Amino acid sequence: MKRSEINSILRGAEAFIASAGFNLPAWARFSPERWRTELASGDYDEVRALALGWDVTDYGQGDFLKVGLTLFTVRNGSLSDPRYPKGYAEKLLISEAGQVCPCHFHFNKREDIINRAGGTLCMQLWKSSPGGEALSEESFTVSVDGKRVACTPGLILRLVPGESVTLEPGVYHAFWAEGERCLIGEVSSVNDDENDNRFYVPQARFPTIEEDEAALWHLCNEYK
Ligand SMILES: [Fe+2]
Repeated sequence: MKRSEINSILRGAEAFIASAGFNLPAWARFSPERWRTELASGDYDEVRALALGWDVTDYGQGDFLKVGLTLFTVRNGSLSDPRYPKGYAEKLLISEAGQVCPCHFHFNKREDIINRAGGTLCMQLWKSSPGGEALSEESFTVSVDGKRVACTPGLILRLVPGESVTLEPGVYHAFWAEGERCLIGEVSSVNDDENDNRFYVPQARFPTIEEDEAALWHLCNEYK
């Protein structure tokens, strides 16, 4: 992705999040120059170590509006770093209308995906085969806001604002917004994008960036 495209996505995301009445921590708007000073102090080691903050991805496919997602990790813990024993994570996700987050599951993370505002959130679900490489033909159940819902393989759940679904580890899911963009909440156990994601079709988690202008804000893997 071009940095100019990422900057423009970030400006739009910040405005959309604010319009939904959700306030981000002040460091969401730190410039790269401000980060240089703040990180040198050591006071923000947690933000850097846990990859908190902005995350814009086209999953390496080069067509953000078709396949992509904008995320902001508000909080997280670590399974390997005893300095950060928090067992939970929270993210905001923005899905544009028709923009697909590709099919994946998590080995360990259990997550509630919540439609906070905007359009209808479509969530397509399958169980994974025992080795994880295939979509299972088994039916299963999920919890939609505490209500047990039967799922046939590939069922598309349509969640309106206020509704959420609990995804157990090993459940393949792909999702997109319908009608208009969605502000999505994610409340989960610890998030580890480096080791815990299994994409059905292998793909990059983070974009390759072409630096055609200065970065507005750091992405979560750029504090180093
Ligand atoms: Fe997920």
